[in-house]
Amino acid sequence: MIIGILNGPNLNLLGTREPHIYGTATLDDIHARLVEVAAELGVEVRSAQSNVEGLLIDTLHLWRGVVQGVVVNAGAYSHTSLALRDAFTATSLPFVEVHLSNVYAREPERRHSMLAPAAIGSIVGLGADGYEFALRGLVATLRRHS
Ligand code: DQA
Repeated sequence: MIIGILNGPNLNLLGTREPHIYGTATLDDIHARLVEVAAELGVEVRSAQSNVEGLLIDTLHLWRGVVQGVVVNAGAYSHTSLALRDAFTATSLPFVEVHLSNVYAREPERRHSMLAPAAIGSIVGLGADGYEFALRGLVATLRRHS
């Protein structure tokens, strides 16, 4: 089983970006941990990050038939992008949404997710560990349904 890890805008700056909100782990740190967890679970991970909405959508199109599910932190596009949700439904890729911060405890415009209605589930507010929990939960769910 291959799982895609998709990160959206500004997440390439993790480590230095508002560390009081997003922590000090870099995207490379997060990816390295996910590779370890994937090995433990007996799956593979593919990672992609883009600051461009259309490239995130293109990545999902390319991943169709390649990955069996996706862990996604779409950054601010989570709150705005119907196109990204459509890409998930159009490709039938099951996914778990992650946010490092507790978006429900922040500004009102962050409290709504365009992706959540189509997600298996969401993990918010647990920092970088949230990616690991999302990967574990996604793999467990896919295995249960296979
Ligand atoms: C975020 C939350 C979003 O509101 C924000 O735009 C981000 C990061 C998070 O991981 O907490 O870029 O997705």
